[in-house]
Amino acid sequence: NYKMIIDTDCGIDDAVTIMSAIKYGIDIVGITTVSGNVYVDQVTDNVLRILNFMGRNDIKVFKGAHKPLISEKTTPAKIHGENGLGNVELEKSEKIAEEIPAPFAIYKLAKENPGIILLTLGPLTNIAMAFNLYPELKNYVSKIVSMGGAVNVGNVTRFAEFNFFYDPEAAEFVLRLGIPIHLVPWDPVVSTPIFEDELKETFKGKEGALILQMEKAVMDFVEKSRGVRGVFLPDPMALVTFLSPNIIKSKINTSMHMELSHGSLMRGASFIGEGHGTEIIMEVDKRNFLDFFKNIF
Ligand code: BDR
Ligand code: CA
Repeated sequence: NYKMIIDTDCGIDDAVTIMSAIKYGIDIVGITTVSGNVYVDQVTDNVLRILNFMGRNDIKVFKGAHKPLISEKTTPAKIHGENGLGNVELEKSEKIAEEIPAPFAIYKLAKENPGIILLTLGPLTNIAMAFNLYPELKNYVSKIVSMGGAVNVGNVTRFAEFNFFYDPEAAEFVLRLGIPIHLVPWDPVVSTPIFEDELKETFKGKEGALILQMEKAVMDFVEKSRGVRGVFLPDPMALVTFLSPNIIKSKINTSMHMELSHGSLMRGASFIGEGHGTEIIMEVDKRNFLDFFKNIF
């Protein structure tokens, strides 16, 4: 099975992704944390609690960047609740994060596991720092599977998606590495809303119950603004479209770049370039997407 390092700003759909990776049997060699949905200390605590809930305290957690490379850190996204997990209070883990910081952990774990896949679910600060500190990391990473960016539609602005907007310099650095990228931007996510009854039919058992409990916060939020009870599953979509290509309805092989001008309303927006090597998923089959989870939960 695949060996992966998961880099996360653990909000609700990040937690769903970590749980799905465990249920699927991914060999998770480490989880690194970064500020994004909530600040990094809260993110680290969330990951430790999720692993504890899953009975996987053997998976090591490494704390990473407090703030983006250049941008100011913004206030946490309300949609994930105060604690990032929809205000669900999971039991505190006895474990704490490892001593070594995330960028070094990424290098060390990749060197020990050549061919490894980096699954990134948050801003790319740690990933950019790791490749900047240890350029030979390129020799050990076979692919980056990532949720971020927007081709035609964003969620922070019309053209910007949260993860890449939060740290656009880091995103640009990673997009230029030349490592093959499997990318899920906001486009296929927003065209695949998952409604409350579909969520209930899909996620079962004790883990499914936790997912529904956490996603309730999102549904309450979405109901206020859009009048329907449903959620989006951005981070899980990155993982599962990589694992099960039958979920993908259309994709483009191109390159993506970031707008970095300061003071521009477009700062943090992403756009398609002329290169290739970044496989961008544009549409997914919702039935197959949900079936993937049904089979593992
Ligand atoms: C991304 O932002 C976060 O809220 C989600 O976890 C996802 O990684 C979507 O723009
Ligand atoms: Ca995330």
